[in-house]
Amino acid sequence: MPSRNPRALPPDLDPKGVPDHVAIVMDGNGRWAGAKGLPRNKGHEAGEAALFDTVEGALDAGLSWLTVYAFSTENWRRPAAEVRFLMNFNESLLVRRSHELHERGVRIRFIGRRDRIPPHVRRRIQEAEDLTAGDTRMTLAVALDYGGRDELARAVQALAAEVREGRGPRRIDERAIARRLWAADMPDVDLLIRTSNEYRISNFLLWQIAYAELHFTPVLWPDFNRHELFEALRVYQGRHRRFGAVPDPVPDPAR
Ligand code: IPE
Ligand code: IPE
Ligand code: MG
Repeated sequence: MPSRNPRALPPDLDPKGVPDHVAIVMDGNGRWAGAKGLPRNKGHEAGEAALFDTVEGALDAGLSWLTVYAFSTENWRRPAAEVRFLMNFNESLLVRRSHELHERGVRIRFIGRRDRIPPHVRRRIQEAEDLTAGDTRMTLAVALDYGGRDELARAVQALAAEVREGRGPRRIDERAIARRLWAADMPDVDLLIRTSNEYRISNFLLWQIAYAELHFTPVLWPDFNRHELFEALRVYQGRHRRFGAVPDPVPDPAR
């Protein structure tokens, strides 16, 4: 499929000020469905169009990484029928849409536990990752059975095993931890978006969001799209990221 309109960024957005990595907590599907008198699953289904339009916007903007929260380690607490629906829905998405992402140059990566994912879904995840492994335009990371604390606990376990093999404890530094997360090559998150008027992190990317800018919007996930993404980028471009330093170089009177 030919690239439709590369870098179709709204003119008020500065292409040089686009973040490298945007992460999204796709929340509000159930409420979207409820407001329409529909079952919750219809809200999850409606989230597909939102996700793919957002991916198009991310490609237009030139993001390198887009990470989306699809299922948390806590979401197993939902009714079994909803969990089953979500797993099958993710499989169906992979079957129907992986090739399209591949044609768009998108590398698909899943982060999170695999051992509790039904085998038929796990197989499709592997196929999608293999199919798109060489794609370089953007990485779409899907967090499935993902928890930030679980990810960190696993990194600690891996490092503890290495210490037993002779690694010096002093060599457990920030880089060593980052390299043992699900995607060792994932850059820090620049912008974290959460939809549906909820103001929390819900165990998403705890390590990677250390200096992320946060953007909360009342829009429910099924109503999100590339224009909402551009709006978040606009807000981001108005922020001053300081990373603990002073805002502007202040002349030093002692010099
Ligand atoms: C987000 O929408 C999707 C998942 C967590 C899988 P919700 O299902 O949480 O929708 P609300 O928050 O109940 O509206
Ligand atoms: C966070 O949404 C997880 C996903 C979007 C997959 P939840 O709806 O599960 O979060 P809480 O329970 O409201 O914190
Ligand atoms: Mg929710």
